[in-house]
Amino acid sequence: MNRFEPNGLTWKVRAKRKGLMSVMDPYDYKGRKSKYTDTIHKIVLNKYFNPSYGDKVLDFGCGTGRLVKILSKNTDYTGIEITKEMINVAKRKYPNKRFIIYNKKLPFKNNFFDYIVSVWVLQHISNKNDFKKIIKGLKRCLKTGGKLLMIEQVSVKKTEKDWIKSIESKNIKYVVGFPIRKSISIIGILIKKGMIPKFLYKQIAHIDILLKRGTTVPKTGYLDYFFIFKKVK
Ligand SMILES: C[S@@+](CC[C@H](N)C(=O)[O-])C[C@H]1O[C@@H](n2cnc3c(N)ncnc32)[C@H](O)[C@@H]1O
Repeated sequence: MNRFEPNGLTWKVRAKRKGLMSVMDPYDYKGRKSKYTDTIHKIVLNKYFNPSYGDKVLDFGCGTGRLVKILSKNTDYTGIEITKEMINVAKRKYPNKRFIIYNKKLPFKNNFFDYIVSVWVLQHISNKNDFKKIIKGLKRCLKTGGKLLMIEQVSVKKTEKDWIKSIESKNIKYVVGFPIRKSISIIGILIKKGMIPKFLYKQIAHIDILLKRGTTVPKTGYLDYFFIFKKVK
């Protein structure tokens, strides 16, 4: 299940990469592309992740803890991860937060979490049975009325409709979804080349996200897509 990435690095090896290279592009040594993508992800989560004080939050596939600050603010946060080395980094960064190794089981009661957030994790699970099992488990421990927020890559191989179909069921309903970033774009090229200073990333990202609305799946590359699902009775 802890399969090789297309670029030939295991998650265990990736965990040793510095900063965002561990969970984003492992070859982005200048870090501009990853920083920009990270900014986009955080803008979207800051807007749509609206927990009440003390809400129980699960960060499925938390990696090295990139999203801990957002997801644990005033919440009861748990990060779960399959790669021990990733968890170790997260624990070092956030010694007071709860991190658990994912051992093919979600050790939580039914109807437990108010929010489950998973960013760039499910797209890596290529085994259909593993995928189904994980989704079943996540649905089980999400509270009725709770939300599942995901950012995943959408491509011709797995379109947004395919994603929705793979998650929706009798008690899990799709609420909203939209593209937030294109893997190949002019902005992306300018960012990579260092032609846009880092202090402008946030402002540009806000506009970029809006401009992506209505973008259809490209023939090459992918779209980063934000999804919200809700558990109903
Ligand atoms: C691209 S990283 C994303 C990490 C984090 N969600 C983030 O956005 O920074 C993907 C993570 O998914 C984890 N992962 C891969 N397969 C998994 C599985 N079957 N169950 C749980 N985590 C998994 C990897 O170990 C890795 O930390």
